[in-house]
Amino acid sequence: MLAARLCRPLSQLPGKTPSVSHRGTVLPRGLGRHGLFALGSWVLTLGCDLLKQVGSKAVLITGCDSGFGFSLAKHLHSKGFLVFAGCLMKDKGDAGVKELDSLKSDRLRTLQLNVCDNGEVERAVETVRSSLKDPEKGMWGLVNNAGISTFGEVEFTSMETYKEVAEVNLWGTVRTTKAFLPLLRRARGRLVNISSMLGRMANPARSPYCITKFGVEAFSDCLRYEMHPLGVKVSVVEPGNFIAATSLYSPERIQAIAKKMWDELPEVVRRDYGKKYFEEKIAKMETYCNSGSTDTSSVIEAVTHALTAPNPYTRYHPMDYYWWLRMQIMTHLPGAVSDMIYIH
Ligand SMILES: NC(=O)c1ccc[n+]([C@@H]2O[C@H](COP(=O)([O-])OP(=O)(O)OC[C@H]3O[C@@H](n4cnc5c(N)ncnc54)[C@H](OP(=O)(O)O)[C@@H]3O)[C@@H](O)[C@H]2O)c1
Repeated sequence: MLAARLCRPLSQLPGKTPSVSHRGTVLPRGLGRHGLFALGSWVLTLGCDLLKQVGSKAVLITGCDSGFGFSLAKHLHSKGFLVFAGCLMKDKGDAGVKELDSLKSDRLRTLQLNVCDNGEVERAVETVRSSLKDPEKGMWGLVNNAGISTFGEVEFTSMETYKEVAEVNLWGTVRTTKAFLPLLRRARGRLVNISSMLGRMANPARSPYCITKFGVEAFSDCLRYEMHPLGVKVSVVEPGNFIAATSLYSPERIQAIAKKMWDELPEVVRRDYGKKYFEEKIAKMETYCNSGSTDTSSVIEAVTHALTAPNPYTRYHPMDYYWWLRMQIMTHLPGAVSDMIYIH
């Protein structure tokens, strides 16, 4: 009975949209309303206290062409930050970049930034440094948001795919962080890494993505300990499923990945699993991509809190309560228990 409830498909669950932050956890609507409401107001008040002092604190966000990064750039700009929006496609005149540029604000500046390219990352550091009123006072915040995703069971995934995803999600995060740390240290500022719920719990057919996000979590934890005495606060935001609201996947992209994967499968794998099994897995992925939340405000609020609260949380969990509960079970109970519930 319990297992059946915990395994209910997302689309059948009530209250899909999360609401109030509670020690970094975005909890489902309706849970302990009065206590959480008071706590939520307290959290917001603390956030507001610092927001009053935002002044023109500088923040750089990676991956602002679309999705969370795009919304976050606009949101932080509206809160008074000096926002440097790193865009992969600035040089190609991407629509997202044009929209950000159309705000024509000297507090919102788009930069060409591919996090896999040492030269572009170094140029971004120089651009930020030379734009600061007093570079010796450093830069307040860095949000490592740029990311890509893919899917496929271990036997369906090529080594090139594993490396390609890690290059952006993991090494891109490490590279950008290392480059900006001298500026963050001077400001005793904030680092916010966008990980994923899949950086805390594994899922079948997601190993190329999960290993990069588990890596981001480990990197963030190590750095949080190292930076504590130096005054830089490191937070991780672990969004649930918001695919329907961002450009991480589209039906066309899923089909393109599936076709390439099938075409490149070793003969023995193709024969042993068969086309029917493969197509069922692709259909499952399509369902997952269509079932997520379309409202990204809880993610944006979490990052804003991490950048503005006097005591930001170590981890933020903006996700609906099916995934929140699953993550608690998978991270707090013995593996044998979560296996019993979730291996099916
Ligand atoms: N959406 C979700 O459900 C979800 C859940 C958990 C975690 N996340 C994480 O949230 C972050 C943002 O993703 P999103 O959902 O907002 O998807 P998105 O709309 O695809 O945004 C990702 C952004 O990163 C950019 N990017 C890709 N490769 C890059 C590179 N080498 N250098 C710099 N930028 C690069 C993309 O540019 P192009 O658009 O030009 O490719 C895009 O603007 C990612 O780290 C993702 O893993 C998302």
